[in-house]
Amino acid sequence: MDRGGATCEDEPCPARAATRRAAAAAAVLAALAALPGAAEAQGIPGCPGPTIGSDAPPPATTPWTDPSLPPDRRAELLLGQMSLEEEVDLATGELCLIYGYYDAPIARLGIPALTMADGPAGIRITYQRVNGGRATQLPAPIALAASWDPALAAEQADLLASEAFATGHNVVLGPTLDLARTPLAGRNFEGFGEDPLLASALAVPFIRAIQSHPVLADAKHYAGYNQESARFTLDARIGTRALRELYLRPFQAAVRDAEVGTVMCGFNRVNGAFACEDPWLLSGVLKGELGFRGFVLSDWGAVHDTVAAALAGLDQEQAVPRYYGQALVDAVRAGSVPRSVVDDKARRILRAMFRFGLFDHPVEEAPLPEAEHGARAREIAEQGVVLLANRGLLPLDAGAIRSIAVIGADADDASAQGGGAARVTPTYEVSAVDGIAARAGPGVRVTWSPGTDPVTPAHLLPGPPPIPSSALSPPGSPGAPGLLARYWLDPGFEGDPDLVQVDRQIAASAGFFAYPSINASSVPALPASYALTRFSARWTGTLTAPATGDYGLALTSHGRAWLWLDGALVVDDSAEHALGVKSATVHLQAGVPHDLRVDYAADDPAIGVATDLGGDVKLGWTTPPGAVPPAMRDAAAAAAAADVAVVVVRDYETEGRDRPDLALPGDQDRLVAEVAKANPRTVVVLMTGQPVAMPWLGAVAAVVQAWYPGQEQGAVVARVLFGDVNPSGKLPVTFPRGVAGVPPGAAPERGGQTPVVPYSEGMLLGYRAYDALGVAPLFPFGHGLSYTTFRYAGLAVDDPVRRPGLAAGRPPSDRFGPARVSFTISNTGARAGAEVAQAYVGSCAPGTPPKALAGFAKVPLAPGESRRVTIEISPDALSWWSDARAWVTPGCLVPVWVGSSSRDARLGGFIRVPGSP
Ligand code: BGC
Repeated sequence: MDRGGATCEDEPCPARAATRRAAAAAAVLAALAALPGAAEAQGIPGCPGPTIGSDAPPPATTPWTDPSLPPDRRAELLLGQMSLEEEVDLATGELCLIYGYYDAPIARLGIPALTMADGPAGIRITYQRVNGGRATQLPAPIALAASWDPALAAEQADLLASEAFATGHNVVLGPTLDLARTPLAGRNFEGFGEDPLLASALAVPFIRAIQSHPVLADAKHYAGYNQESARFTLDARIGTRALRELYLRPFQAAVRDAEVGTVMCGFNRVNGAFACEDPWLLSGVLKGELGFRGFVLSDWGAVHDTVAAALAGLDQEQAVPRYYGQALVDAVRAGSVPRSVVDDKARRILRAMFRFGLFDHPVEEAPLPEAEHGARAREIAEQGVVLLANRGLLPLDAGAIRSIAVIGADADDASAQGGGAARVTPTYEVSAVDGIAARAGPGVRVTWSPGTDPVTPAHLLPGPPPIPSSALSPPGSPGAPGLLARYWLDPGFEGDPDLVQVDRQIAASAGFFAYPSINASSVPALPASYALTRFSARWTGTLTAPATGDYGLALTSHGRAWLWLDGALVVDDSAEHALGVKSATVHLQAGVPHDLRVDYAADDPAIGVATDLGGDVKLGWTTPPGAVPPAMRDAAAAAAAADVAVVVVRDYETEGRDRPDLALPGDQDRLVAEVAKANPRTVVVLMTGQPVAMPWLGAVAAVVQAWYPGQEQGAVVARVLFGDVNPSGKLPVTFPRGVAGVPPGAAPERGGQTPVVPYSEGMLLGYRAYDALGVAPLFPFGHGLSYTTFRYAGLAVDDPVRRPGLAAGRPPSDRFGPARVSFTISNTGARAGAEVAQAYVGSCAPGTPPKALAGFAKVPLAPGESRRVTIEISPDALSWWSDARAWVTPGCLVPVWVGSSSRDARLGGFIRVPGSP
């Protein structure tokens, strides 16, 4: 295969990614060794013991080990033997260098450790010592949500839990049940989209499947955690109705319908109180009204006060003893926290452990069936791919094309995934280039051109795209890409540099968003030792403009930075430390190299002190018209010479930082436009965690939304492009036309340290806002095309029936039977395919958005086949949380629509709701 001049003779091509990852893994281990306590822990065949411990002798009998007793009874028997210190130990997490997140075992009583792994998109093995840190990288939850298939959610979770168990973990920290309130929020890829009914429908089988193993699931982050900016301090001011009808709904389903074992309270405040210290949220709603019997654990460091958290209902502090541990023992002894409160915490933890088999089935490490699980991950991902647009080009016919130009800087590895807690180190990977080449077969010439530089965490910084490496050269190496970089682990450039390397671009981000997995990008700019610490750096080399004209040079930095061009200081950003952008305009002649030097001091006193902050620097540019960088010109030429161009573009989303805007990172939008100009038979494959603006949409022949499709991402894409898989995914989020097209109220609030986020949109979340305000989306919620066509006909409605004798105050689903809508769907095309039929209802409750998803069904159909389909509509979907602080099901005629998206109603009718007693 020709890889656009890449030095790669052998098949398969030695993956650039593999080299990067080896370096990244070594860096993580080095960082680990530097952690406090690492030295003592090394050589210990286990993890630390309980933080407080007990001198009591072993009990004479251990009746709670009898598996024939009911879980609650076993918990009570064991609780009766526990000292205050042991109960507090159980309520206090520790860090363990083998399993990562952990609650120590209590050997005297035979209580096993709780060993926890993040798991929304595959098991993230915190420290690389189990299975080399690798697990199956599954499709991101947003991709799973796009399948609209609860059975598939169960399959993904089943695989996830089996890998958790086999890597020594008995708690999966997932699913993420936060709704996608704003399209800029950094963690939307970890969740199930913007609709509470869809999120609940997937969360329930997901949780049940995890807990069918001796593994607890964790519903997170309770509640109102919908953005990353100021996440540790912000106050989400959410009206009661929106809280009940939207944000709490998935948690309600997790508790009532799936019996989730644990709930994680979030970092943020909700209506004034920290979520982990709010008696109303934890004891009132969750444990009281919803009847949650499991235990609440805190997000990592989300506790601020021992007594407030203990009394509010927080059962376990994670991840290190700070406010629990000895402080909680002291609070009990001082009388500020009753012993019964601590008993209840221990009881809840033990009850969940007995109930889900953690005592009877201790974790057993075992090799992962990597190939089998990788193939399953691929099959799941295929069901979530959304065909956004297709002007007749797809599916490709391998027999009818002779050449494909694959374009995209990250198309040669499988690095597209989100960062932060959800990041997974895959067991193996299939890149887009390899997947497409393998599927196309020997008769089709497949080339690869990067076109631009790989995406890194620094692409989340504000300011224009980084200057591409093809316009830069290290000193004395004309024509070679990049700049010479010197790094000091000292903010003042003191002494000899600690690291000298060639960097492709000036684009480095060493805050949380690049950490703890320093391989957050396939291009680790810096070793882990530079994360969350102060340092300095100097880049030198030349800048050569591709066209004559005025260029804006923009220096983005957190700390102080200086830019010299031909020895003259053109940008001085040393006056303040805050993250910001400073620019200058320079006139450059095409093809003339200019000496470039940038100095950067990551010396803000807050770096390394505040939780998430590390160095951030980027040198970006704006270019005059016609200035196409050399690598992009090469890509366009490759596209022009091929029958079809496939541009694989991606973003990087992560915990800890929201996206600055909806544009594709770097100059990828520009790349797509140049390629489409060169060849109108261009397909864009979006490997993004959520919507991006598509300024080039009208110029390309097809757009495939592949999300973060897991470790076999190249095979997933290839099988969709060639029609082995007929796309059936539907959008679980609305795609806006750009930030300006996002309805008011739903933008992350960035200012200040304790910002109040007013949730002023109220009930108008996602498509509800677009409908109510008459805003046109780029692609509506529920949208997704197929290679076949479907016809809907024959709507019949069965009204819900009131169950007599049940008082108001009971949940609507107790008081009414479901409504049912039935209709016939026919596959009117020539290919087998599946349609996700969606039912939406209006409401006669005051102030309710025009329509809301009320049910759906994924229907597979052979060509020409018809099926009668029935969707059950829960009475919950016909009810609202009234001012009287109760669920009300108003008696009236409710409009119902059935169709192919939220904006493509094919059938309509009415449901007659008999009304509340
Ligand atoms: C995240 C949680 C995660 C935890 C452990 C926190 O920063 O918010 O979702 O489970 O870290 O990794």
